[in-house]
This record gives sequence, C-alpha cells and structure tokens, in this order.
Amino acid sequence: MTPDEQWLAAMWPFVRSQLPAAPARVIEIGCGPLGGFVPMLAAAGYQATGVDPEAPAGPEYRQAEFEQSGLPGQAAAIVACTSLHHVADLREVLDLVRGTLLPGGRVVVVEWARERFDEATARWCFSRLAPPEDGHSFLHGQQEQWRESGQQWDAWCRSWAEAEGLHPGEDILRELVARFGPGTLSYGPYFFPELAGTSEADEQAAIDRGEIRANRIQYAGRRPS
Ligand SMILES: C[S@@+](CC[C@H](N)C(=O)[O-])C[C@H]1O[C@@H](n2cnc3c(N)ncnc32)[C@H](O)[C@@H]1O
Repeated sequence: MTPDEQWLAAMWPFVRSQLPAAPARVIEIGCGPLGGFVPMLAAAGYQATGVDPEAPAGPEYRQAEFEQSGLPGQAAAIVACTSLHHVADLREVLDLVRGTLLPGGRVVVVEWARERFDEATARWCFSRLAPPEDGHSFLHGQQEQWRESGQQWDAWCRSWAEAEGLHPGEDILRELVARFGPGTLSYGPYFFPELAGTSEADEQAAIDRGEIRANRIQYAGRRPS
C-alpha cells in the first residue's frame, strides 16, 4: 500500500461510521487523484460522487472545484478529508455544503490542525522519515525547507502555511460548528502513513505520552432540519 492508500484505509472506518444508511447520495469534496472514499462508498451501496480538479476520470467524479461544480440536487452526506484547509474561501464552501445537504444531512470531515504542528511534533516526525531515495514525501519537503530557512520552527511553519493559503484547523472547526453544531469531535494521529516503521498506534502512544501533539481532527455534524 502507498502512504496515500494507507491514509484512506485508516480514515474509512470513521467516515463510514458517521454516514446514514445506504443507499443514499454522498458527495466527497477533494477526493484527490486516487478517488478518495468514492470506491469504498460505491462498494457499500452509496450513490457517491467525488469532486476535485484532480479527480480521476469517470462518471463517479467531477474534475472541478466544489464551488464551481454545479452539482444538481441534494445529498444525504458530504465528506471532506484534508481538503477544506486548501479551499480559497472556507465560508463560501461551507455555506454551499449547507445548501447542498438535505435537512438533517451529515457533514463528515477529517482535517489537519496545522497550528498543532509544533517543533517537538515536527522533530519526532523528521526522525522517523524513510531515506529520501525511497520516496520524497510532504514531510521531507518540510524538513528541507525549514533547514534552508534558518528560522525558528514556529515562525517558519506559520509563514509557510500562510504563503500556501492553508486554513488553520481551529478556523475550519469554528466555521463547521457554527453551521452544523458541536457534533462529534476528536483528535488523533496524522503523520503515520509517511513515517517509516511507525503505525497509527505508535503515533497515538507518543501523543498519550505528551511527546507530540495530535494533528488530526475528526468531526461530524448535521444540517439543522
Ligand atoms: C491533501 S489532498 C487530499 C486528498 C484525499 N482527500 C486524501 O485525504 O488523501 C487535498 C485535495 O483537495 C483538493 N481541493 C482543493 N480545493 C478544492 C476545492 N475547492 N474543491 C474540490 N477539491 C479541492 C485538491 O485538489 C486535492 O486533491
């Protein structure tokens, strides 16, 4: 399994547990080039559509930004896995999510709390990276750019994220809760698929010992009826 496949497989049980019973219409925002959860959703009996400019070709996908996709009709659930921190206008996207959901419809989100990516967490991750010749990951790039910057970690990471236009997890959560209620919320391991010989349980154990911070947000809420 590639790291991206490992990530999707690890997130699927949470996503699946928050969905209404099949059959139902489910939209995934930012499914990515692998198609995200769309194949799993279809296999579970859902009418699934993945929306992403980088989506694969095929009738289950729209190769467009969600805001521009003009998807007709309403959905029983909308899933977004590490895509909301990339959107240009978070409020516009979440207003559109609310307008696209049926009354009582579910929103299921996995996100990155990038404001929790502190120096201790970064160093813990960097010390577990596979040799770069085995594949150049997001974390390899972070480590290289930080070293080249000569800056303190917190200052470098914040300026990097702002230059990339990435929304902090706390902003995403605040906007979700404002529209879809407190719902269910938890934090967990985020980096394990990119780390050599490190499982989700290993990362959770380091979080529990207070060595690193939990960077994964899991949230599920509902459109008020
Ligand atoms: C980090 S990838 C996540 C891919 C996949 N969901 C996963 O968890 O592995 C973020 C994806 O969000 C997509 N994306 C960013 N803005 C988007 C938007 N406005 N509408 C739809 N997809 C978007 C990007 O093209 C990218 O494929």
